[in-house]
Amino acid sequence: MPVQQSESNQQGVPLVAHRLPRHIAIIMDGNGRWAQQRGLDRTIGHREGVKALKPIVKEATRLGIEVLTVYAFSTENWRRPSSEIDVLMGLLVEFLASETPELKAEGVRIRTIGDTARLPSAAQQSLAWAKQETSSQKRLILNLALNYGARDEILRAVNRWHAGAHGEGEPLTESALSQHLDTAGLPDPDLLIRSSGEFRISNFLLWQLAYAEIYISEKLWPDFDPAEFHRALQDYQTRHRRFGGLG
Ligand code: FPP
Repeated sequence: MPVQQSESNQQGVPLVAHRLPRHIAIIMDGNGRWAQQRGLDRTIGHREGVKALKPIVKEATRLGIEVLTVYAFSTENWRRPSSEIDVLMGLLVEFLASETPELKAEGVRIRTIGDTARLPSAAQQSLAWAKQETSSQKRLILNLALNYGARDEILRAVNRWHAGAHGEGEPLTESALSQHLDTAGLPDPDLLIRSSGEFRISNFLLWQLAYAEIYISEKLWPDFDPAEFHRALQDYQTRHRRFGGLG
């Protein structure tokens, strides 16, 4: 069944509803370059990056995508100047304060992955509020990766498993590890989108992306719009997913 196209993409090939990804992960890259190309401070690029996220969440919700995981701050991003980190944390607080009511009204539940206990307390408080506010929403999970690194997540999961109840000498299994990851209970991403033309995973969802299809967009994140989102989905629908089998 074709899905109705968004106005920004009326020329596109119709999407097939039953072949849409359940879970889309996005590396929102290129904010800094977008600003630098315009002679602006990098932080303006991040501000524009937040603005670009909103219509993508809206479109994902409209299409019936179940989970959208976005890489908002990595464990490696602490290496940036503190002035840039402060802006990013401030943007997160602003985003949650201004967008949570509308996200809630649209059926979006906010969740996080990553070690959020190490975020500034204002960010932690905003996140706790936004998660609580949206906790009963069921259309889309907007999963914010914050102080997230896949190696850190896997180590925390293994340590949690070790600390938990299991038999003496019992080996750790794939399913036990999955259940101890920050993404426990979520389907693995079917599609990974990275903007800004870079072909890298950057310590994002290393375990969960095992069989994800990858779409690299040449657009810098602030220019990533619903039309480009549709191009990624159209491209995804041409893929033959075999999961290591013969299809
Ligand atoms: C990569 O661009 C982007 C980030 C490190 C942060 C992504 C964050 C946002 C889009 C905004 C925050 C999100 C929320 C939900 C409030 P870059 O700075 O590495 O760009 P560059 O590679 O061009 O330097």
